[in-house]
Amino acid sequence: MGKKFFIKTFGCQMNFNDSERIKGMLKTLGYEPTQNWEEADLIILNTCTIREKPDQKVLSHLGEYKKIKERNPNALIAVAGCLAQRAGWELVKKAPVIDIMFSSFNMHQLPELINQAQAGYKAIAILDEPPEDEHKIWEYPVERDNKYCAYVTIIKGCDKNCTYCVVPRTRGKERSRPLHSILDEVKRLVDDGVREIHLLGQNVTAWGKDFEKPIPFSELLYEVSKIEGVERIRFTTGHPRDLTDDIIEAMADIPQVCNALHLPFQAGSNRILTLMDRGYTKEEYLEKVYKLKEKVKGIAMSTDVIVGFPTETEEDFEHTLDVLEKVRFEQVFSFKFSPRPGTPAAEMEGQVSDDVKTERMSRLLELQKRILSEIAKGYEGTVQEVLIEEEKNGELIGRTTTNKWATLKGDKSLLGKIVKVKVNKASAFNLECELLEVLR
Ligand code: 5AD
Ligand code: SF4
Repeated sequence: MGKKFFIKTFGCQMNFNDSERIKGMLKTLGYEPTQNWEEADLIILNTCTIREKPDQKVLSHLGEYKKIKERNPNALIAVAGCLAQRAGWELVKKAPVIDIMFSSFNMHQLPELINQAQAGYKAIAILDEPPEDEHKIWEYPVERDNKYCAYVTIIKGCDKNCTYCVVPRTRGKERSRPLHSILDEVKRLVDDGVREIHLLGQNVTAWGKDFEKPIPFSELLYEVSKIEGVERIRFTTGHPRDLTDDIIEAMADIPQVCNALHLPFQAGSNRILTLMDRGYTKEEYLEKVYKLKEKVKGIAMSTDVIVGFPTETEEDFEHTLDVLEKVRFEQVFSFKFSPRPGTPAAEMEGQVSDDVKTERMSRLLELQKRILSEIAKGYEGTVQEVLIEEEKNGELIGRTTTNKWATLKGDKSLLGKIVKVKVNKASAFNLECELLEVLR
């Protein structure tokens, strides 16, 4: 019987893409995936530490998974990702059941780490800086979760220093992936039937700046769009400060670039934005959005917001609500401020109480609910293009270029096709559609 692995992933799309690479590596080592951790020989938790909640979740999962050792004393438990990077040995002390630990810098070392752990050692690979041979990871196969839409990591790390954020501490400085390596992966993906390419990075808009001969991110968009078979391109996450005119032009100019952009604004008050060290004002952010909306007709915006940053007053918070009213985002990911160890904001005076955060959050959600239902109404009766990703009980599921989920009746032969649909009924999170035409 071959060995089995079980992997549980927390956090952002980057982490999910890292997990796809870990899965690819494990397959080459002869491991087969299982959905049931109780029958695994290797359990991997790919962790996140962006807020306190994901930290706690990991510890509670470890408490459960450690029972595997009663049943299978040779089973190994590994912790990967950002919490591993941040907490290191401290975490092993708290949870001695951990056999293997590595961060996103050390993913390529997994095969050696498994050998070490099998020999009875604690295999911990947590470096302060990414190692020279980090690029080896690009050579490993990827075991993808979705057949038609693929994530392609193009840049790792982040050079911004937002005062609330652990990411620069867990993922290091910006390292752009070489152009040829990205394009080679995209070519392989389309050969394999992928139609939508989702470029990923903590800060994709900074791609190419760290090369000896810098290349603008907009050029990468053009290069990817020239590859035959690429039907759709998305990218996340961009920083408002780096969203330059050439990127906006490229978005308008390249037909495959989807009509959607995730652009975190975090807070509406200029005083709070300064404390966060975001490098833009509310007015500058809005100006970029208005320009985008003018150039890229029908673009759907989404964003991240933090509620209750230290010293946030009622008046500050109202600026956040005002941005929601003005931009009318189709998706808002909102988070209560969570002080992260080692970040400047965690030490700031004027921490906001949880009650106030909860109260503000519920007002924000209420407002967003209203905006979303108005946006949904606007979809009714319209014609959209949908890429069909899944079939379940005679129902097809896909996404519009504005990144809205759509469902329609149809059979499996439409999987992976881009179809034209009419929207009959729209709710905040789904469009009920009927098929008009199969496009390509
Ligand atoms: N507290 C709350 N939310 C945070 N985020 C990042 N750090 C924190 C924190 N300390 C949010 C930001 C970011 C998203 C991925 O998580 O909104 O864009
Ligand atoms: Fe979590 Fe940030 Fe790490 Fe992603 S990069 S897994 S959001 S801490």
